[in-house]
Amino acid sequence: MQGREQWATRYGFMLAAVGSGVGLGNIWRFPYITGELGGGAFLLVYLICVLIIGLPTMIAEFSIGKRGQLDAVGSFQKTAKSKPWVIGGWLGVITSFLIVSFYAVITGWVLYYMFSYLTGAVQQVEPGGIGEFFEGFIGHDFLPVVWQIIVMAIIVGILYFGVKKGIELSNKIFMPLLAVILIVLAGYSLSLDGAAEGLAFLFIPDWSALGDPNLYLAAIGQAFFTLSLGMGIMVTYGGYLSSQTGKRLPGTAASIVLLDTLFAIVVGVIIFISIFTIGGIEPDQGPTLIFAVLPEVFNQMAGTGTFFAILFFFLVFIAGLSSAISLAEVSVSFAIRQFNMSRKKAALIVGALITLVGVPSALSQGGPLGEVLIFGETILDFVDLLTDSYFLPIGGLIVVLFVGWGWKRSEAFETADFKNQWLGNLWLILLRFVAPIMIIIILLANYLGIGV
Ligand code: PHE
Ligand code: NA
Repeated sequence: MQGREQWATRYGFMLAAVGSGVGLGNIWRFPYITGELGGGAFLLVYLICVLIIGLPTMIAEFSIGKRGQLDAVGSFQKTAKSKPWVIGGWLGVITSFLIVSFYAVITGWVLYYMFSYLTGAVQQVEPGGIGEFFEGFIGHDFLPVVWQIIVMAIIVGILYFGVKKGIELSNKIFMPLLAVILIVLAGYSLSLDGAAEGLAFLFIPDWSALGDPNLYLAAIGQAFFTLSLGMGIMVTYGGYLSSQTGKRLPGTAASIVLLDTLFAIVVGVIIFISIFTIGGIEPDQGPTLIFAVLPEVFNQMAGTGTFFAILFFFLVFIAGLSSAISLAEVSVSFAIRQFNMSRKKAALIVGALITLVGVPSALSQGGPLGEVLIFGETILDFVDLLTDSYFLPIGGLIVVLFVGWGWKRSEAFETADFKNQWLGNLWLILLRFVAPIMIIIILLANYLGIGV
């Protein structure tokens, strides 16, 4: 076998991780959760969670990969010397595989919307009819599968080219493009009538919302989801670090966290300003916010709406794609080592399997499998719930417990490359106590059926 693949530059690695982080979680999940949980107050708690749980966990995941120099399972095996911690690696492969199976479906919806704006189909929908348009599409007999397959084909195409020429290069193009589109959209939205109201909704905290325990649970959960933690991704990406690109992991992770957070906030600004500009729509619309509500808004913006909409869905598409790539890479990287396959073969086989597993999800939103319920949920919602509420926190818990308690302290410090002793100690304390306790609370709450 040839040497293992590695990132070309530290900057490229950082952008790939940002590409994983910035996704539907920022654009679709963050705004609707913020909308439901009282705006600014949620934002504040979320920021604290990102800082005291998200950032330390990300540094921990990178460190495991950097030390192991392998895929998620292999890196755990090597770093943890085959103790039971390796379950964390296996769980990562399973979780990311399941998540990408439906994540690609939703990214397909996004691509379909962009396409439908280009053909003019969305613009022709009568006011108030977008909800029906959306349900007509996701409930169609086979169309969601067609778009899912297109998205999966693009993902496989990029993974086929490997770490440097596939993942790193695509993100070096996608991320700056995202930033430009975001700035254009934000600038435009600030010129709209609802700007003041939208900003106030997002930034002026309604302190009474702090009494709702759901707010804290959602904030911790969102911190994990948005930073792509607890599912082997950052371990896998850490496995491609060299001694050069893997320098000063805390600094790299901090930049990634900052960019992901900024992105979520700016998208929130754009979405809430748009909503308040049109008026008559409540911001707490839930998961269908960007598919069923925003297009109504775009359609009512005379003249500029179409342009705004196409840019917006293109932005969502790129963000979703780069996250899906990172999810799928966990399995590809695993398959390459575990089954001693070439990357090209692994990309094709893993891609085909993910697509197959995702088909039932694609057909479950009112389509042919719409009536199939698991524990009262549609297939897509069930897979989402299972991974978000259980697998992901358990995966994260294993990571923080392993690095906090199971790993030799000096080795962990050295691998993460903390320059400041004091920060290093703080990192360990957060991993040992704060993060595990919060994660266990989330798990219990999910189990007891509390939470959003
Ligand atoms: N972090 C991504 C987002 O915010 C979502 C994601 C979850 C990506 C899990 C990869 C893995 O949308
Ligand atoms: Na994110």
